[in-house]
Amino acid sequence: MSGLPWLLSLSLLFTISVSADVQLKVTNNPADQLVDVVNSNRTASKRSSLHDNPGLACIALQYIKAYQGDCGAVGGAKAKKPPEADFAEIFAPNCGVQTSTLSPITGRLLGCETKYVSPSTAFSEILMQNEKSIEILTDKNHTEVGAAVSGSDGGSPYFWCVLFSNGTSNSSFVLEGGVAKISRPGCFSGANDDCSSAYPSQVHRLWPFVASGLVVLGYAFGL
Ligand SMILES: *[C@@H]1O[C@H](CO)[C@@H](O)[C@H](O)[C@H]1NC(C)=O
Ligand SMILES: *[C@@H]1O[C@H](CO)[C@@H](O)[C@H](O)[C@H]1NC(C)=O
Ligand SMILES: *[C@@H]1O[C@H](CO)[C@@H](O)[C@H](O)[C@H]1NC(C)=O
Ligand SMILES: *[C@@H]1O[C@H](CO)[C@@H](O)[C@H](O)[C@H]1NC(C)=O
Repeated sequence: MSGLPWLLSLSLLFTISVSADVQLKVTNNPADQLVDVVNSNRTASKRSSLHDNPGLACIALQYIKAYQGDCGAVGGAKAKKPPEADFAEIFAPNCGVQTSTLSPITGRLLGCETKYVSPSTAFSEILMQNEKSIEILTDKNHTEVGAAVSGSDGGSPYFWCVLFSNGTSNSSFVLEGGVAKISRPGCFSGANDDCSSAYPSQVHRLWPFVASGLVVLGYAFGL
C-alpha cells in the first residue's frame, strides 16, 4: 500500500546519491536514507563520506527518547538537552554499546515536527535550518555518523536526530556481541534493519502533502 511513496522517495535519493558518486547502501529504513542524504551533501561539499555506525545510531534513538515526546524542549527558549552522563549511564547500556568504547560526539542535529515527512525533506526543511546546522554537517572533524527517527509511541510528533563522532569506525560504539538491540518505536541507521513498517499509515496519509512540497514548521537544534 505504502510502496509507491517509498519507491518515489527512493528514486529521488538515488538521483542525489548517484550524482554525488557515493557508496549506495539504501535499505528500507528512513534513518539509513537520512544518512545517505547527509553523506551525499558532504561529498558534494568536498567532505569525506562518514561511516554509518549502528552503535552510535542506536544512541541517537535513545537521545530522542530522552525528550519523551516534548517537541518544545528541542529548540527555542525552553531548549533542553540530556545530561552528558546519560550517554554512559542510560543510552549505551540500553543499546548494548560497550561503555568503554564511547567516543566524543563532535556534532548533533536534532529536529522535531508534528507531521511525518520523507528523510530528504526532514534533512532540508527541519535539520538544515541555519548556517550553524550546515557548519555542523560539514565539519571536517567527523569520521562517523548515526541517525535515528522516531515518533512518540508510534505517532506525532516525529523526532529526527543525527549524531556525529570522531571515533574510529571499528573500535568506537562497539556493540556487545556485534549485534544492535533493535527497539520500536523508532528506526536507526547502520544495522541493516528493515524499518519501513514503523510508519506505514502516516506515510500513506501524508504523501499528498509531501508531494506538493509542504513547507514544514519544526524546530532544529544544532550543538
Ligand atoms: C547541503 O545542504 C544544504 C542544506 O539543505 C544546502 O543549502 C546545500 O546547498 C547543500 N550542499 C550541496 C553541495 O549540495
Ligand atoms: C576540530 O578538532 C580540533 C581538535 O580537537 C579543534 O581544535 C577544532 O576546533 C575542531 N573543529 C571544529 C570545526 O569543530
Ligand atoms: C575528537 O574530538 C574531541 C573533542 O573535540 C577531541 O578532544 C579529540 O582529540 C578528538 N579525537 C580525535 C582522534 O581526533
Ligand atoms: C579496524 O579496521 C582496520 C582496517 O580494516 C584494521 O586494520 C584494524 O586492525 C581494526 N581495528 C580493530 C581494533 O579492530
